Amino acid sequence: MSDSSLSTPNLPRCEHTPVPYTGPSKAEVFAKRQQYLNPGLFLFYKEPIQIVEGHMQYLWDERGRRYLDAIGGIVVISVGHCHPKIVEAVQQQVAKLTHTTTIYLNPVIVEYAQRLADHFPAEAGLESTYFTNSGSESNELAVMMAHLYTGNFEIITLRNGYHGGLSATMGMTAMSNWKFPLPGANGVKHATPGYCYRCPHGLEYPSCRMRCARALAEIIDYDTCGKVAAFIAEPIQGIGGVVEPPEEYFPIVYDIVRAAGGLCISDEVQTGFARTGTKFWGFENYNVTPDIVTMAKGIGNGWPLGAVTTRKKIAETLTQKLHFNTFAGQPVAMTVGLKTLEVLDEENYLERCQETGTYLKERLEDLKGHHSIIGDVRGRGLMLGVELVRNRDSKEPATEDAAKVHEACKDRMLLIGKGGVFGNVLRIKPPMCVTRADADYIADTLDEVLTKLND
Ligand SMILES: Cc1ncc(COP(=O)(O)O)c(C=O)c1O
Repeated sequence: MSDSSLSTPNLPRCEHTPVPYTGPSKAEVFAKRQQYLNPGLFLFYKEPIQIVEGHMQYLWDERGRRYLDAIGGIVVISVGHCHPKIVEAVQQQVAKLTHTTTIYLNPVIVEYAQRLADHFPAEAGLESTYFTNSGSESNELAVMMAHLYTGNFEIITLRNGYHGGLSATMGMTAMSNWKFPLPGANGVKHATPGYCYRCPHGLEYPSCRMRCARALAEIIDYDTCGKVAAFIAEPIQGIGGVVEPPEEYFPIVYDIVRAAGGLCISDEVQTGFARTGTKFWGFENYNVTPDIVTMAKGIGNGWPLGAVTTRKKIAETLTQKLHFNTFAGQPVAMTVGLKTLEVLDEENYLERCQETGTYLKERLEDLKGHHSIIGDVRGRGLMLGVELVRNRDSKEPATEDAAKVHEACKDRMLLIGKGGVFGNVLRIKPPMCVTRADADYIADTLDEVLTKLND
């Protein structure tokens, strides 16, 4: 079967015709995966799906069935799967020069680094970039520079935050389900996030007077030596369940951290590159300027690419020894990054993300009026979360129902994510090329699934 319209009658129209699939069956792929891949690599869905092709906001399985990708696997696809302009640029670069390390001069990396620097607020001084291959690498490098620059040891991160799956970044992560019992958290202290729906201090905004942010001073006073190397946080927590603090949160926290000698690191792995719709960077929504910005995911539209951008003085800390990353900064990755940036600007993704995201959020908020299981709708731009609860008063997390909704959406050709410490937050973060019709499909599908939930 290759006519996707047969199985997906209500999906918005799509002109792209997938190439007929001739590869191994899903069962064969599954069996090989079980035998040869590390079982720690988990699969979505009880009946996993096999994805063999992608175009803009859509994905196709081996049977030619089309899915609306509303999680962008995972929050990586910024301008669309296999965006034609990026494909063309990559093909040209691959044929010319695939790999050279940073030990030689090459024009693409410097052109890209300059364009990236141009996207930061002019007065920030954020112009010196070290490219990496992933978000975890970016965060480890950023924290290392903070240690070297400040001479301090302790790091503050936020409960509910996710910063990566390597030893040190797992230590910075503050959700038990993502942590192994390892010593990577040495020197890491976790402060309280601005999670108003589940206030960690049991208070209400605004009468709380931002207790969550001010409590960080107590952590510094009682849990550290009084001096810290850095504070690292996502402007909106992604895997933690789209937790968006009030606008006063980061200005208060940044002041406290800087008074204790620390640098402020903004983990823009999910929130960067226009994702929040209102601003190109997540931190800009809070009127703060970080000392270091870490990036990955959307920066490469699917290519393994990350970056750490900081001020010259901080970047210079790495010159005291030899430091090197074999693949980082190679010309194909740089071409992808550069082209993604160009497409984001040329095709007005920031405005589009804001417009479609606002519309979709309104539709999700409207659903809250019809489904008591929806406790909260959060986020901005195309970084949206729907928190499901069993009871609006007790806010008991509806973890099992969230899993059912996740599966049922897939059965209706809609791929979404799931997150939060309790796994009860539906995460909607599609490629930013989605249209109003796609937004309607997402909202209508959720409406239908929630209506039938306990049939
Ligand atoms: C905010 C944030 N930081 C860092 C990472 C780690 O990135 P990677 O998986 O590329 O190492 C992630 C991954 O989901 C993330 O969401």
